[in-house]
Order: sequence, then structure tokens, then C-alpha cells
Amino acid sequence: MTDPLHDRLERLRGSAQERLAAAATIDDVDALRHALLGRSGELTALLKGLGSAPAAERPALGRLANEVRAEVEGAITERLDALRDAGLEERLASEALDMSAPGRPRRVGHLHPVHTLMRDLREIFHAYGFEVFEGPEVETEEYNFELLNIPPDHPSRDLWDTLYVAEPGSAEAGASRPADDGTILRTHTSPAQIRAMRALDPPIRVLTPGRCFRYEAVDASHGFEFFQVEGLVIDRDTSLADLKGLLEEIARALYGRDVRTRFRPGYYPFTEPSVAFDIGCLVCSGEGCPACKRSGWMTILGAGMVHPSVLRAGGFDPDELQGYAFGMGPDRMTMLRHGIGDIRLFFSADLRFVTQFAEGR
Ligand code: PHE
Repeated sequence: MTDPLHDRLERLRGSAQERLAAAATIDDVDALRHALLGRSGELTALLKGLGSAPAAERPALGRLANEVRAEVEGAITERLDALRDAGLEERLASEALDMSAPGRPRRVGHLHPVHTLMRDLREIFHAYGFEVFEGPEVETEEYNFELLNIPPDHPSRDLWDTLYVAEPGSAEAGASRPADDGTILRTHTSPAQIRAMRALDPPIRVLTPGRCFRYEAVDASHGFEFFQVEGLVIDRDTSLADLKGLLEEIARALYGRDVRTRFRPGYYPFTEPSVAFDIGCLVCSGEGCPACKRSGWMTILGAGMVHPSVLRAGGFDPDELQGYAFGMGPDRMTMLRHGIGDIRLFFSADLRFVTQFAEGR
């Protein structure tokens, strides 16, 4: 008579195979593994019964039990592999896109606050009939200075400390010395005045936004790289009054209807007369604070009537046409707009700084 334990082991061997084949998911197999081989599993229970089998049969039963256990373990692994392969297909199906699901918000980039301000300027000036006219960042001394009425030895050139461009490897490369061919990085956007006059027919109304460069020590209010937005109008019978009216409107559009404005006499070699345009300090409303150096006013641009020599350099007859020009400092204007205290932040590439202006308009 065979030992009942022997029979039960054989039965378990058969039923384990059947039940495994019926396990449809990885979870089912795991549950089955637990039911068979777990601490209080069926096979474990049979193994425990081994101790009370007659001593003579124990070795044979032990061998059988080990065989069954190895077989069951092998079958479980096989079944798991098969289910994983099949599961891939199922997973692909389950990961199909649900087009009706609500979208997950995604962080998108946005304009740098200085560019936001320049975009606003473009839109405001567009309403006054201005179009964008781009000039090159790498300029010649002729366009940057001479044609703007600033001869080589003119003391006012000191106002525009210049970065010179030299051939790589040449004696001048890296030195802040004039290159032979007079190639420089533009120190202001004003050379675009000449380029616009030479390229376009009057009446002219253009805006030139762009990067400028100066050989300058960097501090909280000066960068060696900064932006300007140049404006130029050439027409018959334009006057300082037109310039004044336009700039006042621009200031209101940008800083609100209540902004206070004033013009002061200024000096630029390429405009005559020249003015500086101030707005009432946005920080202290005119009472005087560190931001406005206690004056209650902040200068946002220089301007003036285009100098006759500059009109001639542009190819026009000063007796026939006049014009005005202005050069705005969008970096400074952005600082005023948001109460930013240090211009270096603009070029710091620090996301904690720039992302504050995601909604800034
Ligand atoms: N180009 C001048 C500057 O860099 C600004 C300016 C532009 C002044 C046009 C008058 C007219 O400071």
C-alpha cells in the first residue's frame, strides 16, 4: 500500500500544473505561489508531515517532495514569463491615449521681461505707424560714429566706450584697440538711423530694437551688453512738438495715464536740439527715494531733432525734410516697471528671477 503522503504529493504535483495553467494574471500566479509554497502553503504542510512518516519511507518521500517542489517552482517561473510577454500587449492596449482625459498642465517658457517690454513698445508704436527696421550688431565706426556727426577725435566719443572687433589671431585680437578696418560692436542703435534713411523713402517711421555693447565696468545699473530701442521719424514739417506729444503718449501707454513726464535739455552730436525725457519716479511718486537718487524723476530716453549733417549723411536735404529721433533704454524701463534693483539679474540666466515675470506684460 502506498503511503498517503506519497499520493498527496503526486496529486499536488498534478493539480499545481492545472491551477497554474488557469492562472490568468501575474497576481493570480503570485497568489498561487503563496497558496502552494508559502509559510502555511499546501506543499509546505505536506513537507511538515514528512517528520511523522515511517522512517524507512522518509528518504524516498523526501526525494519526491523535493522533486515536486522544484517542479512547481519551475512551472511558476515559466508561467510568469509567459504572462509577462502577453502582458506587454495588454499594457500597450491599456496605455492607449484617452483623448477625452483632461490635459496635464505643462510648464512652458515665456518672454524675458526686457523682451516683453520691447514687444509692448513695438505694439504701442505700431499704433502710431512705426515699423521695425533692424540694424546689425556688428557695425563700422563710420556708421556708429562718423555718419552720426561724431568724428574720430570728438570728445563725445568718450561717452560710447567701444568694443572693437579684430580678426582672430591678429595682433589686435582681444585688445580694446581700434581694428584696422574699424569693425566694432555697435554702442547704440543710432547707426540704424543712417541705414534706414539710406534704405527707405520718406516719410519714414521706424523702430530699431536691439542689443548694444560698451566697454564698460559692470555694476548694478550698467552692463557691457544691453538693449536699446531707437526711433526715427523723417517727414516734412516735423517738429519738437511732435516728438514731445508722441513720447508723452508712449509713456502713458506704458506706465499708465497718471504718469508724470518732463523734458530736459540734453546733448547728443546727432540731434539738435537734444533732450532727455524723464518720468516721475514710479517708486516714490516723486517724493525722492534712492531709486531716483532723491530727484523724484527717472530718465528713460534721449532724443532730439535729427542734426542736418546726419540728414545729409542719410541722403536727404535738410531744407526739405526734418525729423526726430529717440533712443530708449528698455533694460532700465523694465527695471522701473517691475521695481528691479540690479541690471545684472537680466543676464544672470537664473530661472528663479525670470520665471517671476511669466505673466508680465
Ligand atoms: N544713441 C543715444 C545713446 O546711446 C540715444 C539717442 C538716440 C539720443 C537718438 C538721441 C537720439 O545714448
